[in-house]
Parts: sequence; C-alpha cells; structure tokens
Amino acid sequence: MSFNDQSIGDYTAKSNRYDTMQYRRCGKSGILLPVISVGLWHNFGHADDFTNMRQILRTAFDNGVTHFDLANNYGPPYGAAEENFGRIFHKDFRPYRDELILSSKAGWDMWPGPYGNFGSRKYLIASLDQSLKRMGVDYVDVFYHHRPDPDTPLEETMGALHSIVQQGKALYVGVSQYPAELTAKAAAILKDMGTKLFIHQPRYSMLDRWVENGLMDELEKQGTGAIAFSPLEQGILTNKYLKGFPKKSRAVKDGRYLQKGNITHELLQKVRELNDIAQERGQSMAQMAIAWLLKDQRITTVLVGVSSPKQMLDNIKTVGNLEFSKAELEQIEKILQR
Ligand SMILES: NC(=O)c1ccc[n+]([C@@H]2O[C@H](COP(=O)([O-])OP(=O)(O)OC[C@H]3O[C@@H](n4cnc5c(N)ncnc54)[C@H](OP(=O)(O)O)[C@@H]3O)[C@@H](O)[C@H]2O)c1
Repeated sequence: MSFNDQSIGDYTAKSNRYDTMQYRRCGKSGILLPVISVGLWHNFGHADDFTNMRQILRTAFDNGVTHFDLANNYGPPYGAAEENFGRIFHKDFRPYRDELILSSKAGWDMWPGPYGNFGSRKYLIASLDQSLKRMGVDYVDVFYHHRPDPDTPLEETMGALHSIVQQGKALYVGVSQYPAELTAKAAAILKDMGTKLFIHQPRYSMLDRWVENGLMDELEKQGTGAIAFSPLEQGILTNKYLKGFPKKSRAVKDGRYLQKGNITHELLQKVRELNDIAQERGQSMAQMAIAWLLKDQRITTVLVGVSSPKQMLDNIKTVGNLEFSKAELEQIEKILQR
C-alpha cells in the first residue's frame, strides 16, 4: 500500500460552514441533504494521495457538504475507500459525526464465492458489518442495495434492508439503478414491513437521461428522494477534455470505467457548445451540468466525484447560480438532442 500520511495539522471545521450551501428535503422524510454531495468511488484508493483525500473532504465539509457517499467495493482495492475514509473520519470528523450523512452500499462483486455479490440477505448483512468495521463507525446513515438482482426474490433483499434498519446499523435505506417498476415494488415491500424507501441513487446527467422516462415520477409518488450519480459523466461534462487528454485525468489515469475511445470528437463538440453557454452564464461547464440537474426540484442532491479540493470548490460554487432562462434551456436541449 502506498499510503502517504503527511500531516496537515489538526482540523477544526469552519464556523461559517452552513452559510451558503443549500439543502433539499430527501423525499418525504425528516432529512435535508446538501444539493451537492461527494462520492468516494475514485481517488480514495490505497494508491491515491492521503493528504489530498483529507483536503477534499475538509473542503467539502467546510462548505456545508454534509453527505459523503461510499460503497463496499470503492478503491482499488475493494474496501480501500472505506478504510481511508475511516482513517480520515477518526483524524478529522469524529467530533462532527452527528453533522454527517454517511452512506455505503452492497450489490456488486465484493468477495469470492457465491455469497459476496448481488442481493442475498447473507451478502447484504455481512457486507455492511464489514463496511462498519473498515470505517470504524457504529452505523451508517444510509445503506443501499447497489444494483438490481434478477435472481434473488425482491422480498429477501428488501427484508435484509429492513432488518438492517431494525438492528440500528443504518438509519435509512435506498436502492441504486433500480428501474421505475422495480422501485415501486421495492417501496411497497419495504412499506409493508414498516420501513420507508428513503432514497434512490440513479445515474443521471445531461448525457444519460433514463430517469426522465418514469423513474422521477415514481420517486415523487413514493415520497422517495433522488441522488444523481456521475453528474459530470465522469469528467466529460467539464472543460477538461476540450483541449486534449490531460495526463492526470480519469480517462488517462484509469481506463476501467471511462475509456478514451468513448470521448469522441462529436461528443466533445457538444460539450464545447454547452461550455459556451456556461461561459455566458458566468459558470464553469461542471457547474452548469450540476445546476441543470438541480432544475428538477425532485433531485435532492447531485453526487459529484472530485480529484482535488479545487474541483470540490468549483462544484460547490454551483449554488451561486441555479436558475436557467427558458431560452437557455431550449438552447441546451437543442444541443443535447442532436
Ligand atoms: N450507485 C452507483 O452504481 C454508482 C456508480 C458510480 C458512481 N457512484 C457515486 O457517484 C459518485 C460520483 O461519480 P463520478 O466520480 O463518476 O462523478 P462525476 O462527478 O460525473 O465525475 C467525477 C470526475 O469529474 C472530474 N471533475 C469533477 N469536478 C470537476 C470540475 N469542477 N472541473 C473539472 N473536472 C471535474 C474529475 O475527473 P478527473 O479525475 O479526471 O480530474 C472527477 O474525478 C461516486 O464517487 C460514487 O459515490 C455511484
């Protein structure tokens, strides 16, 4: 493990941390989430710089970002992001535990054999126990089933989420990437047991709009909140690829999920035109992509990933301009529909 723990001093959160961030109610629940949340999928593995991770999370929290999103398999290697988060939590954030909403998930492959994947009761409960140990916390605020499992009965998966709440290991539960109809069924099963489907975590960006075909309406009906992941399409919806491929970018550094070959000239031409609109609005491309998602009040929060505190700050500043004129929306739509 290359683990660079150079000291950056003790941490006291800024006293004005709640002054500018905006918060939205998560569906019909008691919880308000910041409109910008931060995810630890990338840049929190054991090969990444520990000081940078700490600075990212400090920058987030100092600016009212109270929600940190994790999963059992974030790293690499799997589990590393939770371990690194645990170290940071105990150095910097322990006094602030009750000001934070921490989430984790299980649903993708995690350990070998038939019990470390998908949606069984055995997998979900064992995985959350492991996550709590890695992070060194007694409970998470939100625990998700990470993806639909076509083979496990939905009653078993939802039953596991319900038990987890009953056991006090998570305060709220959610699902990720469930289509609308399955979400309705999951919510109904949970409701029967007395647990609410608190939140849904779908992939949603200007370039991936599947949630608009029924899921958002279903969530509204259920009183379930929505947290949009990969809102910047892993960095494509920023200005970073407009002049080539920077050495430190995700597409160059880490080809696992974002391949250079998929960032085509046609795609970049769209982003270039969107970037022109963003500039006219006095925003960065990333800020406009985030604000565009938040125009739907049913989106509780936009879940960004960042590789530096500077990007975190850029994204947080989105809250300074969330409004779009009709003409701007039409112009954007024309580019996206091409
Ligand atoms: N539920 C699920 O199945 C699922 C799946 C994927 C992700 N997620 C969650 O969603 C979170 C976010 O996903 P993501 O990392 O794909 O999100 P993203 O926000 O679409 O992409 C993040 C990347 O965009 C670039 N970026 C961010 N802010 C920028 C800025 N202001 N200026 C320029 N570039 C900027 C950075 O790229 P560089 O690294 O190139 O600098 C960063 O690593 C994850 O951490 C995870 O918590 C959930």
